[in-house]
Amino acid sequence: MNFTLTEEHLAVQQAAREFAKTELLPGVIERDEHQKFPTEQVKKMGELGFLGMMVSPEYGGGGMDTISYVLAIEELSKVDASASVIMSVNNSLVCAGIEKYGNEEQKRKYLPRLASGEIIGAFCLSEPEAGSDATSQHTTAVDMGDHYLINGTKNWITNGSTASVYLVIAQTNIELKHKGINAFIVERDTPGFTVGLKENKLGIRGSDTHSLMFTDMKVPKENRIGPDGFGFNFAMSVLNGGRIGIAAQALGIASGAYELALNYSKERKAFGKPIHQHQAIAFKLADMATNIDAARLLCLRAASLKDAGQDFARAGAMAKLFSSQVAMDTTVEAVQVHGGYGFVKEFHVERLMRDAKITQIYEGTSEIQKVVISRDLLR
Ligand code: CAA
Repeated sequence: MNFTLTEEHLAVQQAAREFAKTELLPGVIERDEHQKFPTEQVKKMGELGFLGMMVSPEYGGGGMDTISYVLAIEELSKVDASASVIMSVNNSLVCAGIEKYGNEEQKRKYLPRLASGEIIGAFCLSEPEAGSDATSQHTTAVDMGDHYLINGTKNWITNGSTASVYLVIAQTNIELKHKGINAFIVERDTPGFTVGLKENKLGIRGSDTHSLMFTDMKVPKENRIGPDGFGFNFAMSVLNGGRIGIAAQALGIASGAYELALNYSKERKAFGKPIHQHQAIAFKLADMATNIDAARLLCLRAASLKDAGQDFARAGAMAKLFSSQVAMDTTVEAVQVHGGYGFVKEFHVERLMRDAKITQIYEGTSEIQKVVISRDLLR
């Protein structure tokens, strides 16, 4: 087993680290405080190739592997998890979904603009009454011959008001259950499309999360992805890849908090010596570093299985399940290491602690990851 990153991987990691430090760090506290979308920063992410990393160069992307993607997401998430979820949804749900399952026309029409960041995308599966139970889609897509008529509401949509292209999952034939679900590419200016309320969130406050309403929205038939009834399998398959991105995000939140705690423990003195010389703090740092290394290995294993064309659903779910727990544990401990300073915004760890929680919820809760893992084990 080779644990060495290639020179290309190290270059991507370094570029992402530099970008996070110079472009994301300034203003991250303010964006969190005021729920401000990182518009300028996302534009630069597009210019640097972070928004279409794995898209084939034929469609305007970077043609990179999933390992590079994990490394980049980790670095961005150390500093700004709001920016990294925007990147993750665009790359591993929207671009990957269109590239893997879209037809040639759909790929040529949407991928170059999505990969360059000229536009960004959103993935619309969750509904007020269909979160974990994703087969219970209430949004309907009635086949009208040359188009579908879509009605319904989607909830908690990342990039909800800033996207231009939305992958919308909807029920066409309820009797067929999940085999009656379809996925569509919907453009934002389609009549009947309304952006609803913005959520006021605990964490990742710089990303915009909205409900969306569709009222008699006409979507041309050529915008359906794959054959009739493929929408649920499409969503599940795409989410398998998305979970690697969120696992990497959780890893980055954890490692960002750990690095802050480590640095602080060297500067802060108590009882006559730097606090890292107290075993109470040193042991916390040892636990954090061990858990983070284990999370990183799970993320990289899932990524390398995907890159090798092997089944990675279980590995991706394991990476997300474990890394998100590590993100929670590490950020809570990082606040503790900082003492009172950890509780104030200027020291960044309280934000990372708030950001960590969503990694146990979106793209499948931790319980859903256990469903995916156990079903695969018992298959
Ligand atoms: N990979 C591939 N296919 C899968 C799959 C997976 N992980 N899980 C299920 N499927 C397929 C099954 O093979 C089956 O297909 P066939 O009939 O063709 O064989 C079909 O899906 C139905 O499977 P189940 O009967 O197992 O479905 P279920 O109703 O029991 O649900 C579930 C399975 C795993 C719980 C699924 O509903 C699920 O993953 N729920 C969570 C949804 C989720 O992650 N939502 C997140 C929203 S997106 C988001 O958060 C993005 C964002 O903004 C950040």
